[in-house]
Amino acid sequence: MSGFLGSTVGKKYLMGITGLIWAGFVLAHMAGNLLIFVSHDAYNAYGHAITSGNIIYVAETVLVLALIVHVYTAFSLTAANRASKGSKYAVAASGKKKATLASRTMAIQGSLILVFVILHLITFKYGAHYETTVNGVVMRDLARLMEEVFQSPGYVAWYVVALIILGYHLSHGVGSTFQSLGLMEGTYRNTWKKLSYAYAFVVALGFIAQPLYLFLIAH
Ligand code: HEM
Repeated sequence: MSGFLGSTVGKKYLMGITGLIWAGFVLAHMAGNLLIFVSHDAYNAYGHAITSGNIIYVAETVLVLALIVHVYTAFSLTAANRASKGSKYAVAASGKKKATLASRTMAIQGSLILVFVILHLITFKYGAHYETTVNGVVMRDLARLMEEVFQSPGYVAWYVVALIILGYHLSHGVGSTFQSLGLMEGTYRNTWKKLSYAYAFVVALGFIAQPLYLFLIAH
């Protein structure tokens, strides 16, 4: 990449914008999934509705491209950051200069989330294909698959851990994107910060409730 988009600031923008695309997706995914608390039929009918049109291909393409750009810019910024800081300093930064734990571990969090997403697609998107009929329409029974998967305590624990990491990653990622976009200045600084924390909390909690509910209550 060259020009503005190849510069550090340009890459930060690209990483932020592509992150926000995924942030929008996970919020929508979490909210849609809450239908599992209503009924299996409601959940399956919703899944069927969003996957049976052409719009899903557009959404998938945008998500894949955004993920590639996000991962590429993340790696390239992390590498540049390491090279410039290296072990040049005998004394590690501390106090205000010290980056928060969330920011220092973004790359490792991101890598774990990537592993999570790949395994998640194998489990669900490419997992067992059960069928059910809702209001006379034959469709995939994803609710049954979800219920089966979350009978396993190991699976539930892995999801809870991964989703906590996701919440952590989102709170820092969304916050620093707002900062790159210049929103973290002036009067509304705290509002934007609170908004990014609230958003991350709602997404993580909304998702975590699903495996826990299926494991503890719904069987
Ligand atoms: C409790 C947590 C979650 C549950 C129960 C869940 C459930 C599901 C299910 C059942 C599908 C299959 C949809 C289909 O094939 O029609 C799916 C797809 C998907 N999920 Fe999740 N999900 C969870 C969390 C996440 C998170 C945290 C991410 C991202 C960080 C994510 C990313 C995706 C993606 C990318 C797809 C494929 C969408 C597509 O290409 O159509 N999911 N999920």
